[in-house]
Amino acid sequence: MSDEEGIVNTENTEGTEESEMGDGTFGGVAPRRASAIFGGMERRDFVKLCAAASAGATLPAPADAATLKARLYKRARLVDARGEPFKAESLKVGVNYVFDYPFASTPCFLLRLAGPAAGGVDLRTEGGGTYRWEGGVGPGRAVVAYSAICAHKLTYPTRQVSFIGYRDAPSPVAGNGKVITCCSDRSVYDPAAGARVVAGPAPQPLATILLEHDAATDGLAAVGTFGGEMFDAFFRKFGFRLQLELGDRAKAAVEERAVVRELSTYSAQWAQC
Ligand code: FES
Repeated sequence: MSDEEGIVNTENTEGTEESEMGDGTFGGVAPRRASAIFGGMERRDFVKLCAAASAGATLPAPADAATLKARLYKRARLVDARGEPFKAESLKVGVNYVFDYPFASTPCFLLRLAGPAAGGVDLRTEGGGTYRWEGGVGPGRAVVAYSAICAHKLTYPTRQVSFIGYRDAPSPVAGNGKVITCCSDRSVYDPAAGARVVAGPAPQPLATILLEHDAATDGLAAVGTFGGEMFDAFFRKFGFRLQLELGDRAKAAVEERAVVRELSTYSAQWAQC
């Protein structure tokens, strides 16, 4: 598949395999053409992408041909439980929010950090792919989003319980806090640095979720991912469970809107460590 077709990375799926569909789609979802995204963005000069490197930048730009590129999915505006557009300013600092993206069964963390996430962090996936995380969006560049699927053994927040989440407070596992901890095997990720691995067995950072921020409305939208996705492995490992829970919707693309909830309401229990 060419860059023109929107999917540009073949190295960021370590532990995973190529498209299950074998036809250039992922789980039956055709990624949006990059050109379509760029066209829309030209009309929305207020938009900043989470990984935009500098003024005028649109998508994370690889430093060279060997580095990873962004993977674009369908655009989904972030909304609250009533369907109203979610305002970045309404995010509470230190609270763990969750939304499903880019598939109906793949949760992501949405966080407003205490300070700016300036970016410029060079990261590496388990397979050796490199990419530069360019920071947060929204108020104070403090809003960030990551896939909530642990890069170690794919622990993720279910409706019943979550063993992974953002922990603001100190703990023996979280150290001084303000990190994402996975209590399954105690991997720790730094959300202010592209979810790089701080401790534990995780072999790579959590995948970044690319966000758009509309400065005029303070709205947010998810548009893609960056870094080491785990979705193929996730569907292979949990496909039976997901099918029971969600039926054929499990692999459905999230489009148009994604509902943001606090983790405390997304999962009935949250095991913190
Ligand atoms: S599954 Fe998260 S640390 Fe092992």
